[in-house]
Amino acid sequence: MVINESLRLYPPATLLPRMAFEDIKLGDLHIPKGLQIWIPVLAIHHSKEIWGEDANEFNPDRFASKPFAPGRHFIPFATGPRNCIGQSFAMMEAKIILAMLISRFSFQISDSYRHAPVVVLTTKPKYGVQVYLKPLNS
Ligand code: HEM
Repeated sequence: MVINESLRLYPPATLLPRMAFEDIKLGDLHIPKGLQIWIPVLAIHHSKEIWGEDANEFNPDRFASKPFAPGRHFIPFATGPRNCIGQSFAMMEAKIILAMLISRFSFQISDSYRHAPVVVLTTKPKYGVQVYLKPLNS
């Protein structure tokens, strides 16, 4: 839930480029062959219409309480036949690292931390993330 919520608020890939290889009708929308489409992942992930008034808040519980259809509104790894081939690996890696860290350390964010996510090809913390780690058994 925590990893999903982090990927929702700060998706590393904020835009997904696609090109229509044939004429497509999408609802009332006519998409002609050859048109380039940019899927705005960041905007979809922050939409209050989809996620509610707290769309910009960090709330991992939303992945527990609200049934959601992965691949529709939550698309950090894209969706469809060309979605991320490393998705399962990346999720497993993140869970293992997070589990190892929280079982051994407590965390405190530094006073010098400035929350400034920026998109430079991928989403990054502009000034880094300064965190104090304290061993749990000390
Ligand atoms: C948090 C980590 C990751 C995120 C958020 C992520 C996200 C994405 C996204 C959004 C795409 C689709 C791009 C598009 O369709 O335009 C993609 C494709 C891809 N990713 Fe990842 N990825 C991650 C980790 C990985 C890892 C660990 C690997 C390899 C071990 C990997 C390998 C690939 C490959 C090969 C593609 C291209 C798949 C294709 O075009 O068929 N990714 N990734």
